[in-house]
Amino acid sequence: MPEMKRIPLSDLRPGMVFDKSLFDNNYNIVLPARKPLDRATLGMLYNRGLSEVQTAGEIVEVVDESKIKASQPQPSTETDPHKKVVIDKEAAKHIEFYKNAIAKVNALYQKYKRGESLDANQFQQLAHEFVNTIMGEKKIEVWINLINAAGRGDYLSLHIVNTTILALLLGKKLGYSAVKLINLAMAALLFDIGMLKVPTYIVEKEEKLTPEEFNQIKTHPIYSYQVISRELNLPVEIARVGLEHHERFDGTGYPRRLKGQEISEMSRIMAIVDTYEAVTKNRSYREKKESYDAMRLILGEGSRKFDPDILKVFLSLMSVYPVGSYVQLNNKCIARVVASDSVSPFRPTVKIVRDEFGDTVENGEIIRLSKEPDLYIVKVVYSNEIQSGPNDSTP
Ligand SMILES: [Fe+2]
Repeated sequence: MPEMKRIPLSDLRPGMVFDKSLFDNNYNIVLPARKPLDRATLGMLYNRGLSEVQTAGEIVEVVDESKIKASQPQPSTETDPHKKVVIDKEAAKHIEFYKNAIAKVNALYQKYKRGESLDANQFQQLAHEFVNTIMGEKKIEVWINLINAAGRGDYLSLHIVNTTILALLLGKKLGYSAVKLINLAMAALLFDIGMLKVPTYIVEKEEKLTPEEFNQIKTHPIYSYQVISRELNLPVEIARVGLEHHERFDGTGYPRRLKGQEISEMSRIMAIVDTYEAVTKNRSYREKKESYDAMRLILGEGSRKFDPDILKVFLSLMSVYPVGSYVQLNNKCIARVVASDSVSPFRPTVKIVRDEFGDTVENGEIIRLSKEPDLYIVKVVYSNEIQSGPNDSTP
């Protein structure tokens, strides 16, 4: 793949034309090559909570905005001012929670790093906020998009917030009670706290770590356990996640090389979400991977390393477009998801049920989006938005 540049959304202006397509963080095309960027598309990118797009191309032209409007009708969501306000408000609420959570985690961790003691109540309160907010939003794709679109920042607090969200989504799907979810959130907020005891130059090192440095990294689960159990006096169920999140189901992890059920269930959850989240973000000692590459890694070489039952649930969770749901494609057609793609969860197989003019299509085309780079999902369409309901009942 050619070298991709990241462009903050704040640098994009309506009328810009690129000689190569613009992509989101999941390599979905958000603007095809040579097509002028219009206000509606730019608004849609902001509504999705993205902070940047990627391209291998350059700006080749900036066309007059009035000409774009004449040639490209605006999508209905953007021409309905009431709906737009609602979407903006919802997106803004989630982004605000997310940013605040990162700031709060950062403040708590910085305090500890300065040598001040930690207060378990502050973590407890934050865990409650996470559980209430995340469980209150039924559309899980809201959170998954936010995590996938997150840019760089203070690595540790961003990583902790993302893993906490993923762990809670997974815990909920596994049927955890509210009390168990609070403990899971506490564990997720604290499992990597031992990293603060590893010398900063190692944690932040850009180059590959030496074996000795990697051995130092490997001590952090023991520190995490000590902080959670001795300094914060929290239950052993939470402390074990600190100690065991790098253990692997096949016995290849550290620090104790535990196997299978010897590893606590919450630690097995954390092993999956921590790995997924870490490989999708920049780290000093590994390259960033996109979400479906991360999934491929977890499914491929790593599949023996994780609890297969929990992994199955995680995969179904990451199928953000469940089978049977409706989506709008960038060619304005409405399609029904007929199969998830475990390698490319954001590019399922779909069947066209409405054409670009809104007419029902009998026996519509079946499209594997992972094989069609020019086609992508613009948004989820709720069945009540398909006015008379598509005349289509076959898969
Ligand atoms: Fe860790």
